[in-house]
Amino acid sequence: MDLKEIMNQGVQAIKDADNLERLEEVRISFLSKKGHLSLAMRQMKDLSNEEKPAFGKAVNETKEAIESVLKDRFQELKDIALNESMKKNAIDITLPGTSLKPGLQNPLILMVREMEAFFQEMGYKVVEGDELELDLYNFEKANIPKDHPAREMQDTFFIDEHNLLRTHTTAIQTRTLEEYAPQIPIKVVCPGKVYRRDDDDATHSHQFMQLEGLVVGHNITLADLKGTLSLFAKRMFGEDRVIRFRPSYFQFTEPSVEIDVTCHICNGKGCNVCKQTGWIEILGGGMVHPKVLQDAGYDDETLTGFAFGVGIERIAMLKYGIEDIRMFYTNDMRFIDQFKRFD
Ligand code: DAH
Repeated sequence: MDLKEIMNQGVQAIKDADNLERLEEVRISFLSKKGHLSLAMRQMKDLSNEEKPAFGKAVNETKEAIESVLKDRFQELKDIALNESMKKNAIDITLPGTSLKPGLQNPLILMVREMEAFFQEMGYKVVEGDELELDLYNFEKANIPKDHPAREMQDTFFIDEHNLLRTHTTAIQTRTLEEYAPQIPIKVVCPGKVYRRDDDDATHSHQFMQLEGLVVGHNITLADLKGTLSLFAKRMFGEDRVIRFRPSYFQFTEPSVEIDVTCHICNGKGCNVCKQTGWIEILGGGMVHPKVLQDAGYDDETLTGFAFGVGIERIAMLKYGIEDIRMFYTNDMRFIDQFKRFD
Protein backbone atom coordinates (compact mmCIF):
# COMPACT_ATOMS: atom_id res chain seq x y z
CA MET A 1 0.00 0.00 0.00
CA ASP A 2 1.32 3.42 -0.79
CA LEU A 3 0.90 6.30 1.59
CA LYS A 4 -2.18 7.66 -0.15
CA GLU A 5 -3.91 4.31 0.11
CA ILE A 6 -2.93 4.00 3.75
CA MET A 7 -4.36 7.43 4.36
CA ASN A 8 -7.65 6.74 2.58
CA GLN A 9 -8.17 3.27 3.99
CA GLY A 10 -7.12 4.33 7.47
CA VAL A 11 -9.55 7.26 7.59
CA GLN A 12 -12.32 5.10 6.21
CA ALA A 13 -11.64 2.31 8.72
CA ILE A 14 -11.69 4.86 11.56
CA LYS A 15 -15.01 6.24 10.41
CA ASP A 16 -16.45 2.73 10.09
CA ALA A 17 -15.33 1.71 13.58
CA ASP A 18 -18.53 1.87 15.61
CA ASN A 19 -17.16 1.03 19.01
CA LEU A 20 -14.00 1.58 21.04
CA GLU A 21 -12.78 -2.01 20.69
CA ARG A 22 -13.04 -1.85 16.92
CA LEU A 23 -11.26 1.52 16.88
CA GLU A 24 -8.37 0.06 18.84
CA GLU A 25 -8.06 -2.72 16.27
CA VAL A 26 -7.86 -0.11 13.53
CA ARG A 27 -5.20 1.80 15.46
CA ILE A 28 -3.12 -1.33 15.80
CA SER A 29 -3.43 -2.28 12.16
CA PHE A 30 -2.36 1.16 10.91
CA LEU A 31 -0.16 2.74 13.55
CA SER A 32 1.51 -0.02 15.56
CA LYS A 33 5.05 -1.30 14.95
CA LYS A 34 3.72 -3.96 12.62
CA GLY A 35 1.02 -1.74 11.13
CA HIS A 36 0.68 -0.45 7.57
CA LEU A 37 2.64 2.73 8.22
CA SER A 38 5.61 0.91 9.67
CA LEU A 39 5.58 -1.43 6.70
CA ALA A 40 5.50 1.55 4.33
CA MET A 41 8.54 2.99 6.10
CA ARG A 42 10.49 -0.01 4.96
CA GLN A 43 10.33 1.31 1.40
CA MET A 44 12.74 4.02 2.56
CA LYS A 45 15.75 1.83 2.05
CA ASP A 46 14.97 1.48 -1.66
CA LEU A 47 14.96 5.24 -2.20
CA SER A 48 17.82 7.48 -3.20
CA ASN A 49 19.26 9.83 -0.64
CA GLU A 50 17.56 12.77 -2.33
CA GLU A 51 14.17 11.14 -2.16
CA LYS A 52 14.42 10.02 1.47
CA PRO A 53 13.63 13.29 3.31
CA ALA A 54 10.50 13.95 1.26
CA PHE A 55 9.31 10.42 1.80
CA GLY A 56 10.04 10.55 5.52
CA LYS A 57 8.11 13.80 5.76
CA ALA A 58 5.16 12.30 3.86
CA VAL A 59 5.07 9.29 6.21
CA ASN A 60 5.04 11.56 9.23
CA GLU A 61 2.28 13.71 7.81
CA THR A 62 0.17 10.65 7.03
CA LYS A 63 0.78 9.34 10.55
CA GLU A 64 -0.21 12.64 12.14
CA ALA A 65 -3.30 12.95 9.95
CA ILE A 66 -4.47 9.43 10.85
CA GLU A 67 -3.73 10.03 14.53
CA SER A 68 -5.74 13.19 14.55
CA VAL A 69 -8.79 11.57 12.91
CA LEU A 70 -8.40 8.65 15.31
CA LYS A 71 -8.30 10.97 18.30
CA ASP A 72 -11.52 12.71 17.28
CA ARG A 73 -13.27 9.42 16.61
CA PHE A 74 -12.06 8.06 19.96
CA GLN A 75 -13.62 11.02 21.78
CA GLU A 76 -16.82 10.63 19.77
CA LEU A 77 -17.15 6.93 20.58
CA LYS A 78 -16.34 7.57 24.22
CA ASP A 79 -19.12 10.14 24.46
CA ILE A 80 -21.55 7.74 22.81
CA ALA A 81 -20.57 4.94 25.23
CA LEU A 82 -20.99 7.28 28.20
CA ASN A 83 -24.39 8.46 27.03
CA GLU A 84 -25.54 4.91 26.51
CA SER A 85 -24.41 3.83 29.95
CA MET A 86 -26.12 6.85 31.51
CA LYS A 87 -29.32 6.00 29.69
CA LYS A 88 -29.10 2.40 30.79
CA ASN A 89 -28.36 3.19 34.44
CA ALA A 90 -30.61 6.21 34.58
CA ILE A 91 -31.57 7.39 38.07
CA ASP A 92 -34.85 9.15 38.51
CA ILE A 93 -33.68 12.07 40.61
CA THR A 94 -37.25 13.19 41.18
CA LEU A 95 -38.02 10.05 43.25
CA PRO A 96 -38.13 10.75 46.99
CA GLY A 97 -35.05 9.27 48.73
CA THR A 98 -35.10 6.70 51.47
CA SER A 99 -34.20 8.53 54.65
CA LEU A 100 -31.78 6.93 57.08
CA LYS A 101 -33.08 6.78 60.61
CA PRO A 102 -30.41 7.49 63.18
CA GLY A 103 -30.73 5.13 66.13
CA LEU A 104 -32.45 6.33 69.26
CA GLN A 105 -31.68 5.22 72.73
CA ASN A 106 -34.25 3.17 74.56
CA PRO A 107 -35.93 5.34 77.22
CA LEU A 108 -34.63 2.99 79.91
CA ILE A 109 -31.04 3.71 78.92
CA LEU A 110 -31.82 7.43 78.90
CA MET A 111 -33.21 7.06 82.38
CA VAL A 112 -30.15 5.18 83.63
CA ARG A 113 -27.81 7.79 82.11
CA GLU A 114 -29.78 10.58 83.73
CA MET A 115 -29.61 8.89 87.13
CA GLU A 116 -25.92 8.10 86.74
CA ALA A 117 -25.22 11.73 85.81
CA PHE A 118 -26.95 12.93 88.96
CA PHE A 119 -25.00 10.63 91.24
CA GLN A 120 -21.71 11.17 89.44
CA GLU A 121 -22.08 14.90 90.06
CA MET A 122 -22.29 13.98 93.74
CA GLY A 123 -19.05 12.03 93.57
CA TYR A 124 -20.41 8.51 93.10
CA LYS A 125 -18.74 5.91 90.92
CA VAL A 126 -20.77 3.70 88.58
CA VAL A 127 -20.21 -0.03 89.14
CA GLU A 128 -21.75 -2.87 87.18
CA GLY A 129 -21.99 -6.60 87.80
CA ASP A 130 -23.02 -9.78 86.03
CA GLU A 131 -26.59 -10.80 85.34
CA LEU A 132 -25.65 -14.41 86.00
CA GLU A 133 -24.93 -14.36 89.70
CA LEU A 134 -24.10 -16.67 92.55
CA ASP A 135 -26.72 -17.43 95.18
CA LEU A 136 -24.00 -16.35 97.59
CA TYR A 137 -24.01 -12.70 96.51
CA ASN A 138 -27.66 -12.41 95.50
CA PHE A 139 -29.01 -13.90 98.75
CA GLU A 140 -26.55 -15.22 101.33
CA LYS A 141 -24.38 -12.11 101.67
CA ALA A 142 -27.46 -9.90 101.58
CA ASN A 143 -28.55 -11.63 104.78
CA ILE A 144 -31.30 -13.55 103.04
CA PRO A 145 -31.11 -17.03 104.58
CA LYS A 146 -31.85 -20.35 102.94
CA ASP A 147 -35.49 -20.54 104.04
CA HIS A 148 -36.45 -17.03 102.89
CA PRO A 149 -39.46 -16.97 100.53
CA ALA A 150 -37.55 -14.85 97.96
CA ARG A 151 -35.35 -17.88 97.37
CA GLU A 152 -38.24 -20.06 96.33
CA MET A 153 -38.10 -21.59 92.89
CA GLN A 154 -41.25 -19.76 91.85
CA ASP A 155 -39.67 -16.34 92.40
CA THR A 156 -36.16 -16.81 91.08
CA PHE A 157 -34.68 -18.12 87.83
CA PHE A 158 -32.19 -20.66 89.14
CA ILE A 159 -29.64 -22.03 86.69
CA ASP A 160 -28.53 -24.70 89.15
CA GLU A 161 -28.07 -24.99 92.89
CA HIS A 162 -25.55 -22.13 93.08
CA ASN A 163 -26.18 -20.02 89.99
CA LEU A 164 -29.13 -17.80 89.21
CA LEU A 165 -30.21 -14.73 87.26
CA ARG A 166 -29.81 -11.97 89.81
CA THR A 167 -33.12 -10.89 91.28
CA HIS A 168 -31.90 -7.48 92.41
CA THR A 169 -28.90 -5.16 92.03
CA THR A 170 -28.27 -5.71 95.74
CA ALA A 171 -26.03 -8.50 94.40
CA ILE A 172 -23.73 -5.78 93.06
CA GLN A 173 -23.86 -4.13 96.48
CA THR A 174 -22.64 -7.24 98.29
CA ARG A 175 -19.90 -7.80 95.72
CA THR A 176 -18.78 -4.17 95.92
CA LEU A 177 -18.65 -4.33 99.72
CA GLU A 178 -16.48 -7.42 99.58
CA GLU A 179 -14.21 -5.91 96.93
CA TYR A 180 -13.67 -2.64 98.83
CA ALA A 181 -13.40 -4.01 102.38
CA PRO A 182 -11.87 -2.77 104.57
CA GLN A 183 -11.41 0.47 102.61
CA ILE A 184 -13.63 3.50 102.96
CA PRO A 185 -15.35 5.49 101.72
CA ILE A 186 -17.56 3.57 99.32
CA LYS A 187 -19.80 5.73 97.17
CA VAL A 188 -21.24 3.83 94.24
CA VAL A 189 -24.36 3.41 92.15
CA CYS A 190 -24.98 0.14 90.37
CA PRO A 191 -27.42 0.01 87.46
CA GLY A 192 -28.41 -3.28 85.89
CA LYS A 193 -30.98 -5.73 84.59
CA VAL A 194 -32.63 -8.05 87.07
CA TYR A 195 -34.91 -11.05 86.63
CA ARG A 196 -37.87 -12.53 88.49
CA ARG A 197 -40.30 -15.30 87.69
CA ASP A 198 -43.28 -13.00 87.30
CA ASP A 199 -46.08 -13.33 84.78
CA ASP A 200 -45.81 -10.26 82.58
CA ASP A 201 -48.62 -7.74 82.76
CA ALA A 202 -48.95 -3.94 82.75
CA THR A 203 -46.96 -3.56 85.98
CA HIS A 204 -44.85 -6.74 86.07
CA SER A 205 -42.03 -7.88 83.85
CA HIS A 206 -39.83 -10.95 84.28
CA GLN A 207 -36.94 -8.69 83.32
CA PHE A 208 -36.56 -5.13 84.55
CA MET A 209 -33.89 -2.68 85.69
CA GLN A 210 -32.77 -1.35 89.01
CA LEU A 211 -30.24 1.14 90.25
CA GLU A 212 -28.61 0.37 93.56
CA GLY A 213 -26.91 2.99 95.69
CA LEU A 214 -24.34 2.32 98.41
CA VAL A 215 -22.36 4.61 100.69
CA VAL A 216 -20.11 3.35 103.50
CA GLY A 217 -17.91 5.41 105.81
CA HIS A 218 -17.70 7.06 109.21
CA ASN A 219 -20.80 8.71 110.63
CA ILE A 220 -23.10 7.90 107.73
CA THR A 221 -26.67 8.24 108.96
CA LEU A 222 -30.25 7.92 107.80
CA ALA A 223 -30.24 11.72 107.49
CA ASP A 224 -27.60 11.42 104.75
CA LEU A 225 -29.83 8.96 102.93
CA LYS A 226 -32.76 11.32 103.25
CA GLY A 227 -30.80 14.34 102.00
CA THR A 228 -29.43 12.40 99.05
CA LEU A 229 -32.77 10.95 98.00
CA SER A 230 -34.52 14.25 98.50
CA LEU A 231 -32.22 15.83 95.90
CA PHE A 232 -32.64 12.78 93.69
CA ALA A 233 -36.44 13.07 93.78
CA LYS A 234 -36.26 16.77 92.90
CA ARG A 235 -33.95 16.03 89.98
CA MET A 236 -36.26 13.32 88.66
CA PHE A 237 -39.65 14.92 89.29
CA GLY A 238 -39.08 18.65 89.77
CA GLU A 239 -37.81 21.13 92.34
CA ASP A 240 -41.08 21.28 94.28
CA ARG A 241 -41.04 17.61 95.21
CA VAL A 242 -40.77 16.57 98.84
CA ILE A 243 -40.04 13.05 100.09
CA ARG A 244 -41.03 11.12 103.19
CA PHE A 245 -39.74 7.95 104.82
CA ARG A 246 -42.06 5.12 105.85
CA PRO A 247 -40.81 2.26 108.00
CA SER A 248 -40.36 -0.93 106.01
CA TYR A 249 -38.46 -4.20 106.05
CA PHE A 250 -35.58 -5.54 103.99
CA GLN A 251 -33.22 -8.31 105.06
CA PHE A 252 -30.13 -6.30 104.19
CA THR A 253 -30.97 -2.99 105.88
CA GLU A 254 -31.74 -2.03 109.46
CA PRO A 255 -33.66 0.17 109.84
CA SER A 256 -35.37 -0.11 106.46
CA VAL A 257 -37.51 2.54 104.83
CA GLU A 258 -39.74 3.00 101.87
CA ILE A 259 -39.51 6.40 100.27
CA ASP A 260 -42.46 8.30 98.86
CA VAL A 261 -42.41 11.50 96.83
CA THR A 262 -45.21 14.05 96.55
CA CYS A 263 -47.19 13.43 93.37
CA HIS A 264 -45.79 15.40 90.42
CA ILE A 265 -49.14 15.26 88.60
CA CYS A 266 -51.40 16.83 91.24
CA ASN A 267 -48.69 18.39 93.38
CA GLY A 268 -49.80 16.36 96.38
CA LYS A 269 -53.50 17.21 96.21
CA GLY A 270 -54.62 13.73 95.19
CA CYS A 271 -55.27 12.26 91.74
CA ASN A 272 -55.49 8.93 89.90
CA VAL A 273 -51.74 8.51 89.60
CA CYS A 274 -51.19 8.80 93.37
CA LYS A 275 -54.47 7.03 94.13
CA GLN A 276 -55.75 10.16 95.85
CA THR A 277 -53.02 10.00 98.51
CA GLY A 278 -50.78 12.78 97.17
CA TRP A 279 -47.78 10.45 97.60
CA ILE A 280 -46.06 8.00 95.26
CA GLU A 281 -43.73 5.26 96.45
CA ILE A 282 -40.51 5.43 94.45
CA LEU A 283 -37.86 3.33 96.19
CA GLY A 284 -36.60 1.31 99.12
CA GLY A 285 -33.55 1.83 101.25
CA GLY A 286 -32.09 1.89 104.71
CA MET A 287 -28.92 1.56 106.76
CA VAL A 288 -26.76 -1.35 105.61
CA HIS A 289 -27.38 -4.23 108.03
CA PRO A 290 -24.40 -4.72 110.40
CA LYS A 291 -24.32 -8.38 109.42
CA VAL A 292 -23.94 -7.47 105.75
CA LEU A 293 -21.03 -5.15 106.58
CA GLN A 294 -19.45 -7.79 108.79
CA ASP A 295 -19.79 -10.58 106.22
CA ALA A 296 -18.01 -8.40 103.68
CA GLY A 297 -15.13 -7.76 106.09
CA TYR A 298 -15.99 -4.36 107.54
CA ASP A 299 -15.87 -3.35 111.20
CA ASP A 300 -19.56 -2.78 111.88
CA GLU A 301 -18.74 -1.16 115.25
CA THR A 302 -17.08 1.91 113.75
CA LEU A 303 -18.53 2.07 110.25
CA THR A 304 -22.00 2.56 108.89
CA GLY A 305 -23.53 2.79 105.47
CA PHE A 306 -26.75 3.50 103.68
CA ALA A 307 -28.16 1.75 100.64
CA PHE A 308 -31.13 2.08 98.37
CA GLY A 309 -32.61 0.37 95.36
CA VAL A 310 -34.80 2.02 92.75
CA GLY A 311 -36.79 0.48 89.89
CA ILE A 312 -35.80 2.25 86.69
CA GLU A 313 -38.99 1.41 84.79
CA ARG A 314 -41.09 2.63 87.66
CA ILE A 315 -39.39 6.04 87.66
CA ALA A 316 -39.60 6.29 83.86
CA MET A 317 -43.29 5.29 83.91
CA LEU A 318 -44.11 7.92 86.50
CA LYS A 319 -42.01 10.60 84.86
CA TYR A 320 -43.31 10.06 81.32
CA GLY A 321 -46.82 8.78 82.08
CA ILE A 322 -46.17 5.31 80.62
CA GLU A 323 -48.91 2.92 81.64
CA ASP A 324 -47.56 -0.46 80.59
CA ILE A 325 -44.11 -1.74 81.58
CA ARG A 326 -44.08 -4.03 78.54
CA MET A 327 -43.66 -0.94 76.30
CA PHE A 328 -39.97 -0.88 77.27
CA TYR A 329 -39.38 -4.35 75.90
CA THR A 330 -41.49 -4.72 72.75
CA ASN A 331 -39.53 -2.36 70.46
CA ASP A 332 -42.51 -0.44 69.14
CA MET A 333 -40.86 2.40 67.20
CA ARG A 334 -43.86 4.66 67.81
CA PHE A 335 -42.98 4.45 71.50
CA ILE A 336 -39.19 4.63 71.23
CA ASP A 337 -39.31 7.52 68.74
CA GLN A 338 -40.80 9.74 71.40
CA PHE A 339 -37.60 9.77 73.41
CA LYS A 340 -34.67 11.94 72.51
CA ARG A 341 -31.07 10.90 72.41
CA PHE A 342 -29.13 11.61 75.60
CA ASP A 343 -25.81 13.23 74.89
N1 DAH B 1 -33.25 -5.10 96.61
C1 DAH B 1 -34.53 -4.47 96.88
C2 DAH B 1 -35.57 -5.00 95.91
O1 DAH B 1 -35.20 -5.53 94.91
C3 DAH B 1 -34.44 -2.99 96.76
C4 DAH B 1 -33.61 -2.38 97.86
C5 DAH B 1 -34.19 -2.00 99.03
C6 DAH B 1 -32.27 -2.22 97.70
C7 DAH B 1 -33.46 -1.45 100.07
C8 DAH B 1 -31.50 -1.68 98.73
C9 DAH B 1 -32.12 -1.30 99.91
O2 DAH B 1 -30.17 -1.49 98.64
O3 DAH B 1 -31.38 -0.76 100.90
O4 DAH B 1 -36.72 -4.84 96.15
